Parts: sequence; C-alpha cells; structure tokens
Amino acid sequence: MKIAILGGTGNEGYGLGFRWAEAGHEIVIGSRLAEKGAQAAADMLAKLPDTARVSGTDNLTATQEAELVVLSVPYSAQEKTLATVTEALAGKLLVTVVVPLGEKAARVWRPPSGLSAAEEAQQQVGDGVRVVAAFQNISAHHLLDADNDVDCDVLICGDKGADKDVVAQLCADAGMRGVNAGPLQNAGVAEGLTSVLIGINIRHKIKNAGIRITGI
Ligand SMILES: NC(=O)c1ccc[n+]([C@@H]2O[C@H](COP(=O)([O-])OP(=O)(O)OC[C@H]3O[C@@H](n4cnc5c(N)ncnc54)[C@H](OP(=O)(O)O)[C@@H]3O)[C@@H](O)[C@H]2O)c1
Repeated sequence: MKIAILGGTGNEGYGLGFRWAEAGHEIVIGSRLAEKGAQAAADMLAKLPDTARVSGTDNLTATQEAELVVLSVPYSAQEKTLATVTEALAGKLLVTVVVPLGEKAARVWRPPSGLSAAEEAQQQVGDGVRVVAAFQNISAHHLLDADNDVDCDVLICGDKGADKDVVAQLCADAGMRGVNAGPLQNAGVAEGLTSVLIGINIRHKIKNAGIRITGI
C-alpha cells in the first residue's frame, strides 16, 4: 500500500514509516518543506534494503500520491496541517496518531474540554474522509529500535470495521497486535493513556512503557 505520513520527519511518523517500508509498503514522507521530507526519505532508505520504496515531499503532494494517510504532527499543528490537505484527503482513510498532551506536564492527563484530537480531526475533514485513531500508545523509541519487535498492543478506534481491519493489518505489518477498541468516540481514552505511559517512563527512567490487552 502507498502510505503518506504527514510529519513523517518526526520520530513517531518516521518510526512507523520505517517499519512499514521494511514490510514492503511504499512510504511517502510528508513535511512542511519538500526538501526536509526528501532528506528524511534518503536517511530512511540508507537503513533499508535496496528494494525499499521511500520518498519524501511536502504534505500536500504526499497526501495526493497516497492511498492511506497518517497524521503524525504535534496536536498544536493538527488543525493547520489538516487544513492544507483536506481536499486531497477526500475518499481516503486518515489514521491519526496525534496526542494532545498537557501543556505544562505531558505526564498528567488534562481531559479535553470537548472532543478528542481524533474526533476534532474527523469534524474538520468531514464525512468524506474516514478517520481511524491508532498508535497513540506506541513510543517512537520502540519503533526506531529496528533490532527488536515492538512489545505493545495498539488500540484502534474508528467507526467502520473494514477501516479498522486495514489498520490492524498495518499493525501486524509493523510487528504489533492491533485491538479493536470501539468507535472513534473512544479515541480520547487512548490519547489520555499516553500521559499515563509518559509518567511511568519518567518514574522508571525508561523510554518504552506500553500496554498489553489480556484475555483475548
Ligand atoms: N514520539 C512519541 O514517542 C509518540 C508516541 C505516541 C504518539 N505520539 C504523537 O505522535 C505525533 C508526532 O510525534 P513526534 O514525536 O514525531 O512529533 P514531533 O517530532 O514534535 O513532530 C512531528 C513533525 O510534525 C511537524 N511539525 C512540528 N511542529 C509543527 C508545527 N508547529 N506546525 C506544523 N508542523 C509541525 C514537523 O514536521 P516538518 O517540520 O517536517 O513539517 C515534525 O517533524 C504527536 O501528536 C505525538 O503526541 C508520539
């Protein structure tokens, strides 16, 4: 599948792109600056076998080129990033990894006054774009550790089963188990859980706390 990663120059998007490129997907790294995207792509290609397909460009071109688009920018950049690509997203699946972290302490959850970041994204892009929330609890540290599997489950929230199946396959391709966590309305739970994991990382002096769902 051809996957665009908006903000794929950052650790989280880059780590996901790297895992998917390893699995044979074609990756387009998006950036505000086409040359920054191209530089990240060159860096990624240098770590992958010759058969890997990775390119880099600006966020809009990446969205236009891809079948599926991943949003991996800070929450503070979500609205303006989506505004630049909304038209090009029409009919596509948008997977968001965005977490709105507390401004003063990322380890403390500050419940959003209204919707979760994922629901806000859905509201902004409209019904013509299917939004699925996933990977909020996967530390970039894990994703970038290419020598090891990611020892975590992924909560997948979305309103269409078929779209969540596509994301579950992407989880498997990146070496993780995706768990259907219900409708997009549940995405705020996964977003809030990230603050809990950041706090655990701080208290245990680690970088890779994650979650496992038991009993299934
Ligand atoms: N890092 C993690 O371990 C982790 C884990 C789970 C979820 N997440 C979530 O995943 C998302 C990405 O995380 P990250 O650590 O990769 O973030 P990041 O490095 O801070 O940002 C990712 C990319 O977003 C773009 N960006 C940054 N500031 C921007 C701004 N003000 N306006 C527009 N674009 C901007 C930049 O790309 P260009 O400069 O190339 O445009 C940057 O490389 C965040 O929402 C984060 O909460 C992160």
